[in-house]
Amino acid sequence: MRGLSAFLLLLCLQRVMTDAATARRPNIIIIMADDMGFDDVSFRGGREFLTPNIDALAYHGRLLDRLYAPAMCTPSRGALLSGRYPIHTGTQHFVISNEEPWSLTLNATLMPEIFQRAGYSTNLVGKWHLGFSRPEYTPTRRGFDYHYGYWGAYIDYYQRRSKMPVANYSLGYDFRRNMELECRERGVYVTDLLTNEAERLIKDHAGKDQPLFLMLSHLAAHTANEDDPLQAPEEEIRKFAYIKDPNRRKYAAMVSKLDQSVGRVISTLANTEQLENSIVIFYSDNGAPSVGMFSNTGSNWPLRGQKNTPWEGGVRVAGAIWSSQLEARGNIFTQPIYVGDWLPTLAHAADIELEESDAHKLDGIDLWPQLAGAADAPHVPREILHSLDDVWRVAALQMGQWKYVNGTTAAGKFDTVLTYRELDDLDPRDSRYPVTVRNSAASRALSRFDLRRLTQQRIAAIRRSAAVRCADFQRSCNPLLEECLYDISTDPCEQNNLAYSSRHSDVLAALRRRVRELRAGAVTPGNRASMPAADPTWHTCTWESFELNKPGTVPLECDYHGVPCESNV
Ligand SMILES: *[C@@H]1O[C@H](CO)[C@@H](O)[C@H](O)[C@H]1NC(C)=O
Ligand SMILES: *[C@@H]1O[C@H](CO)[C@@H](O)[C@H](O)[C@H]1NC(C)=O
Ligand SMILES: *[C@@H]1O[C@H](CO)[C@@H](O)[C@H](O)[C@H]1NC(C)=O
Repeated sequence: MRGLSAFLLLLCLQRVMTDAATARRPNIIIIMADDMGFDDVSFRGGREFLTPNIDALAYHGRLLDRLYAPAMCTPSRGALLSGRYPIHTGTQHFVISNEEPWSLTLNATLMPEIFQRAGYSTNLVGKWHLGFSRPEYTPTRRGFDYHYGYWGAYIDYYQRRSKMPVANYSLGYDFRRNMELECRERGVYVTDLLTNEAERLIKDHAGKDQPLFLMLSHLAAHTANEDDPLQAPEEEIRKFAYIKDPNRRKYAAMVSKLDQSVGRVISTLANTEQLENSIVIFYSDNGAPSVGMFSNTGSNWPLRGQKNTPWEGGVRVAGAIWSSQLEARGNIFTQPIYVGDWLPTLAHAADIELEESDAHKLDGIDLWPQLAGAADAPHVPREILHSLDDVWRVAALQMGQWKYVNGTTAAGKFDTVLTYRELDDLDPRDSRYPVTVRNSAASRALSRFDLRRLTQQRIAAIRRSAAVRCADFQRSCNPLLEECLYDISTDPCEQNNLAYSSRHSDVLAALRRRVRELRAGAVTPGNRASMPAADPTWHTCTWESFELNKPGTVPLECDYHGVPCESNV
């Protein structure tokens, strides 16, 4: 009898809880890494340093096996927030350097605006990088109720200043709370600082009726300024003493801090009873720059190329999603998905109907039914334009299994596999990998919602299916001289050019035609030349909205600590 009433009570409770969950739109939490490599998470089998929290997100939720993004910060963030290809927002060529007066087109309705209108509290913590030379370009004028972080391309991990790799522009401070300079807690490691702020927002939100949209847009694992590019707390670096290369050791510490951030955010959601009704996404904005400008030692192994190249190493990124609404959580998601898909996909998940005028401009497609549905849902055939930059003459287009590449960046210097997978200097935790993952903060929080237990076998099976298997090398292609065609479903490492085979001439012609069609519909790139008035020396050593703000009369010497925060605020 007691058993029966307990059972009925449970049924009742379950009914109440389900009703509450459906009545309320889900919280959307997007955690973005900057310049982190495809193989710098351990869920594909890398063992040099582990990322147990990120791996747990993938194993309890869905590992996004073929998540694609434009190969650089500005176009990638622009595609995420607008749901459109960079050729449709003027961000198709390179990035916005801090001293340049332009932005993501003001024409586009951005994801935070859409969620704001639907009643969400919209918050950006961390990097923006979509323009700030006028106040109307900045996050709180583009749909975010709140911004805590920086406007530009990157900052120092402790002092929050940046110097662009452009002659004659000074070091400038770049950290704000909404439009105001934020000077408190300087010297705190930025990955922790941003995570603290995300935790505060999540805690403040507990018990409120309003749903939360939070984009935690990390600095990690981007480099800081050129004179000290890789920065992490000493005690974190010491954990990776077994890695011989001192730069790679620091990078491991930077990624480890990022991984802890993912664990902290998920635990905070759980501890405040908000996890069940949240969608949590983690991904990197683009591939790592393994070598060259802003090189952080990140690895896109075994893929070709890196950040700012048309190859898979630039555009296929590490990512995972969790939501209690995913029927097939605990399964890898192999459907190709583009960052521009998040806008319609998350709008669907939140039951937000897009206005016709916004919906018809989208290049992204709604993949919520596939993500939330059965593990074996058939793939939706789709197109992804990776790059169409007529300044550098690069075109890269994927249609279904086919990928077309015409032209490349940096005269082809970064077109090969630029890193290897470390097999000797291994993370000591690797010998107990499943235990390490299950003991992570993320796994402890997420396992409450598991449909089946995350066993050692299950972990091994997902990790095995996420391993990329390159086909044998067959026929090379020089994209500076010829068109290249790959079947990336069987040749993910782009080693067999099919453009010459007559069997593929129709496919090649179709891709070529589509590139021309897309080119005809492209807007002019928004890029503008650097403006001397942007120099922080004219704005009390701060990166300001320089197009409209009257410059100071006396340029300051900005190469020392604290000018904006200690003597001018
Ligand atoms: C923005 O809209 C204007 C006016 O409709 C149009 O001329 C311009 O090409 C658009 N720009 C972009 C980048 O879409
Ligand atoms: C930078 O400043 C130096 C010295 O003042 C000057 O000679 C040079 O032309 C400047 N370069 C640019 C790109 O403005
Ligand atoms: C391929 O690149 C060449 C050289 O830049 C260019 O002339 C041609 O139009 C490109 N083809 C397409 C379809 O973009």
